[in-house]
Amino acid sequence: MPLWKGRFQKELDKQTNDFNASISFDSRMAQQDIRGSIAHATMLGRQGIIDEAESGKIVAALRQIALELESGKLAIDRTAEDIHTFVEAELTKRIGDSGKRLHTARSRNDQVALDLRLYLLDESEKLEASLNRLLRVITAKAKETYDFVMPGYTHLQRAQPITFGHHLLAYGDMLLRDRARLQDCKKRMAVSPLGSGALAGTTYPLDRGFAAAQLGLTGVSSNSLDGVSDRDYVLELLSCLSILMVHLSRFAEEVILWCSWEFKFVELDDAFSTGSSIMPQKKNPDIAELVRGKAGRVFGDLMTMLTVMKGLPLAYNKDMQEDKQAVFDAMDTAVICLDTFAPMLETARVLKDNLRAAAAGGFINATDCADYLVGKGLPFRDAYKCTGELVAACIEQGLTLETLPLEQYKAACDLFGEDVYQAIDLDACVNRRTVKGAPAPANVLREIAALEEKI
Ligand code: ARG
Repeated sequence: MPLWKGRFQKELDKQTNDFNASISFDSRMAQQDIRGSIAHATMLGRQGIIDEAESGKIVAALRQIALELESGKLAIDRTAEDIHTFVEAELTKRIGDSGKRLHTARSRNDQVALDLRLYLLDESEKLEASLNRLLRVITAKAKETYDFVMPGYTHLQRAQPITFGHHLLAYGDMLLRDRARLQDCKKRMAVSPLGSGALAGTTYPLDRGFAAAQLGLTGVSSNSLDGVSDRDYVLELLSCLSILMVHLSRFAEEVILWCSWEFKFVELDDAFSTGSSIMPQKKNPDIAELVRGKAGRVFGDLMTMLTVMKGLPLAYNKDMQEDKQAVFDAMDTAVICLDTFAPMLETARVLKDNLRAAAAGGFINATDCADYLVGKGLPFRDAYKCTGELVAACIEQGLTLETLPLEQYKAACDLFGEDVYQAIDLDACVNRRTVKGAPAPANVLREIAALEEKI
């Protein structure tokens, strides 16, 4: 039976009832709903709004319901309108009239706003744990590969030498920012709307701060209309998740490229790749592709909620019930992507020789060659032009800067000497990149230690 039976003469039309109900998806907030109700009932008793003994009875019964739901002894009634209705009905079934006093000075509007905040705060813990796990995998892989020389790219063209560990740590920085964004967003989520009532607060002498503190929240909302109609915490979380998915998607894209025969920088473990039903030779990076694809889904969830919210007059409107599926989907998706990506990366083999071969073939030491001339006193722009001409000569003769004879160097510029070969040696080029944030192996080791500290 709905909670709002009073003025209605007829049952709700069957299809409309299903359309209106949210139990199929909001039942996952059962524990948070009960926690919120326990805090509310305790506060009502403490303030003398309901009898203390009755408050105690409500709290005890709610605790019992929570336990039974958790153990599976009690099943959620799927015909209830929503989780709030179910819990209240179950409570009243157990303790009669006392149960009917729980909703004093409360509306489902402030109740659902509270439940969703509590639920998302709990889920954020899981997300953070998953983020940390991937960060630890990145750290471990970076340790393995801190001195693996590879070409760094711009425009997907070989640019300058870096190390694989350094490349991985770039994703470490992105994920650290994701974690910081999430932590920041949680600050605003941890505010209690309870006491906002339906929209206009309440005439009862509530102690809103007490209820909030009981729930581990840091404060109470200051405007009752905003309290029930604010879904910024959903939008912020979805934004954080979307940015996180941008990062995972870019990482996935690189894994996909690296697995291709054109690159072959990385070999995924069989346990994290799939085959083709027709092409026997295939080993596909489906997992990375799915992560890349699921980013679209999370962006869609963000777009859903921006669009749901943008035209809503104050205060609560039923449109807002749509918030749950969108944010649940985004949260579930991000967590599963992190949890699948981490072991895939952990078990991947990084093919050091292939990285090296790619680094040796693409003139990625040309900048270093120009810098060599700068060291001999030539202005950089002239050194740049001279090196460019040497690269063109190499390409024409099928040579590299390493194999170009010294006479040709000298013919281009008499500042060149035998030591040019040492200056353009790939390891030397990488080892020299020691400025803060650069890919020299010694730097990478320091950055790994710093990252470990932060995790
Ligand atoms: N299931 C509803 C939701 O998710 C609960 C709030 C209902 N409030 C109301 N005034 N009908 O938003």
